[in-house]
Amino acid sequence: MFTAFVTPLFLLILSNWVRSSPLSSSESQHINWKLGSTSRLQAPISLKMVSTNMTVVDSEIDVTNGWVDPRILGGQLLDFTTRHKGEPLNVIISGRSDPYILSEGGFSTYAKSLGFSSECFGLHYGNIHQANLGDGNERQDEQLLARQYYFTRPGGPVLGTCWESLAGGNHFRAWKQNGTMADTGAWFLGVSKEEHSGKHHMIIPDGYNIGRDFLVAQAVSSPTHWNSIWWQTEVEWVEGLLEPGNDGVNHEIEQDGFVAVLTVTRL
Ligand SMILES: *[C@@H]1O[C@H](CO)[C@@H](O)[C@H](O)[C@H]1NC(C)=O
Ligand SMILES: *[C@@H]1O[C@H](CO)[C@@H](O)[C@H](O)[C@H]1NC(C)=O
Repeated sequence: MFTAFVTPLFLLILSNWVRSSPLSSSESQHINWKLGSTSRLQAPISLKMVSTNMTVVDSEIDVTNGWVDPRILGGQLLDFTTRHKGEPLNVIISGRSDPYILSEGGFSTYAKSLGFSSECFGLHYGNIHQANLGDGNERQDEQLLARQYYFTRPGGPVLGTCWESLAGGNHFRAWKQNGTMADTGAWFLGVSKEEHSGKHHMIIPDGYNIGRDFLVAQAVSSPTHWNSIWWQTEVEWVEGLLEPGNDGVNHEIEQDGFVAVLTVTRL
C-alpha cells in the first residue's frame, strides 16, 4: 500500500524535474535552432546581449577584434543598392576566423559548407551593389555573390544554384574589410531572401532577417564541412551598428538591426 502511494508521487516529482531541468530546455533550444533552417529563427535572446559603444575614440583604430565598425571612418552598414537605398550588411565573418576562409577561394568553400555556392555557369543576375566598409577603400563593388542551392545530385550544387537564381531564395553579397585604414580581413555580408526572378529579385517580406537567420542557423547548428575541411562557427549578435527599421533600406523592408558576427574555426 505504501509503494502504491509513493510510486505515482515519485513519478510526478520526477516528471516535473525532467520538464524543468536545464537539459530539457537546452534540448528544446537546440530544436529551435534546427527549425531555423526552414522557418524564421528567433535567435535566443541570451545571445543578443552584446551592444557596441559608439563613442569614437580618436586614437588608432583597433583591429584586434577582427572587424571594425565601418562608421568610424565614414562607412555604413547599408550597402549602396540604388542612389538613396541600401541593403543591410547583417553578417560579419570576423578576421579572427580561420585564415583560409578569409581568402576569396577559402571563403567560397566555407560558403558551400553552409549550402551556398557562387557558381552558376557564369550567369549573373541582379545589379552590382557597392559598400563602404570604412577601411579607406571608399565604395567597392561586391566581391562575391553566392546563392543557396537546394539539392545535390551528380552535377550537384552548380545546377541547384542556377535553379535558385530563377526560383529565388537565400543569397548574399560580400565585401572584404582590407583597406589600409582598417585592415581586419573580415568579410561583410548582405544576406537576404528574395522572390523568383520573374519578380525582378524582389526581397520577400522580412527577407533581410530571414536570410540572415537562415545563414546563421546553417553555420552554428553543427560543424559544417566541404569535402574534407571542417569548421565550427560561433555567433555573437551585435546591436547598435544598424538602425532597426526601414529607413534608407531597399524595398522599404523592415529589419531588426541585429548583426551576426561569426567567428569560424577550422577543426
Ligand atoms: C561609452 O564609452 C565612453 C568612453 O569610455 C563612456 O564614457 C560611455 O559611458 C560609454 N557609453 C555606454 C553607453 O556604455
Ligand atoms: C581585398 O580583398 C579583395 C577581395 O578578396 C581583393 O580583391 C583585393 O585585392 C584585396 N585588396 C588588398 C589590398 O589585398
